[in-house]
Amino acid sequence: MSATLCCGSAFLRTVPSMTDTAITVHQTARPKGFPTADDFAFVESSLPSPAPGTALVENLYWSVDPYHREMMDGDFELNAPLEGRALGRVVASRDPGLPEGEIVFHRQGWRTHSLVTPGEVRRLPLHQGVPLSAYLSVLGGTGLTAYVGLTRIARLREGDDVFVSAAAGGVGTATGRFARLLGAGRLVGSAGSPEKVRHLTEQVGYDTAFDYHQGPVPDLLAKSAPTGIDVFVDNVGGDHLGAAIGALRDHGRVVRIGTVSQYNTPDAPPVVFNHADVVEKRLRIEGFLVSDYRNLQDELYDFAVPHLLSGALTLDETVVEGFERIVEAFLSMLRGGNVGKILVCARM
Ligand SMILES: NC(=O)c1ccc[n+]([C@@H]2O[C@H](COP(=O)([O-])OP(=O)(O)OC[C@H]3O[C@@H](n4cnc5c(N)ncnc54)[C@H](OP(=O)(O)O)[C@@H]3O)[C@@H](O)[C@H]2O)c1
Repeated sequence: MSATLCCGSAFLRTVPSMTDTAITVHQTARPKGFPTADDFAFVESSLPSPAPGTALVENLYWSVDPYHREMMDGDFELNAPLEGRALGRVVASRDPGLPEGEIVFHRQGWRTHSLVTPGEVRRLPLHQGVPLSAYLSVLGGTGLTAYVGLTRIARLREGDDVFVSAAAGGVGTATGRFARLLGAGRLVGSAGSPEKVRHLTEQVGYDTAFDYHQGPVPDLLAKSAPTGIDVFVDNVGGDHLGAAIGALRDHGRVVRIGTVSQYNTPDAPPVVFNHADVVEKRLRIEGFLVSDYRNLQDELYDFAVPHLLSGALTLDETVVEGFERIVEAFLSMLRGGNVGKILVCARM
């Protein structure tokens, strides 16, 4: 089998698209609450030529991520090209380390073309039979986050019962599938719709799941995990975190990955939980940033690629076709429009 490229196309595109225009997305305003399309602009310029030591990459896949929403509050400069994880092909090069035709990962996404140096890219191993999109989803930062959360932060033990919030998203689906492969016990997930709940139990391998809109999270969790949990993988924060601390057994672990319930509602009330629980149940609550664990990238390949090739691991992806829809894809993800990792791919 060959590597799959772009929205299900079976073969690598061998001829770069003919264009002399590059398009870059800029953030133009600081949103209050949920961002809108008016907070962004698509800016055209002529295609840049690589200077010595650089190469021009035509981008093929882009990742849109919740962290972009956090960065929009101040870290991203206004009216400047946005960053983001992307995969692309080198189409013109003035550096021998970046040969034309090479498929690379880099962080200068949210633009059709990127000028990169060898130090700014990671060459992809392109395992035979693995779709290219996987290198931005289950084999990329999303999968690495799930893998680190389970193996290094939770230090998952065989038989541990695990609860995952935002379980139907990119990190959540990868966490569920990896936990199953790593020998977890009962898997419980929460997600934002009945369709997602079905996907979790029918496709991903969760034993049970609930729609967090259907009642107070502590009640829903108590019903789904009546005898408690050992590990909580938290992508959401807020009432999910409070409920999980109540449900954890002795020596339970909370893996704090993200706080997506608050990115658009910074005035949300603080989490309420019984602080004595942390002491009496000897809990460990630990957060991490995946950027501190890049050294585990090869370990993730070694773990996940054989399972992908055997069919034991399946991709959960929502792929939106067309770079012009990147803002739409991002806004949709913030409101739960994705199942699995959301990606944007170039039109063929
Ligand atoms: N620590 C790290 O290094 C690291 C790395 C990657 C990601 N993260 C974090 O991991 C989390 C998941 O990221 P991801 O890339 O996999 O995104 P994702 O889960 O694929 O997409 C975000 C999901 O958040 C859910 N959501 C939105 N508002 C919510 C709310 N108020 N309450 C509960 N759920 C809500 C939506 O699903 P529903 O339909 O279920 O609401 C949406 O699909 C985020 O918090 C992100 O910031 C952290």
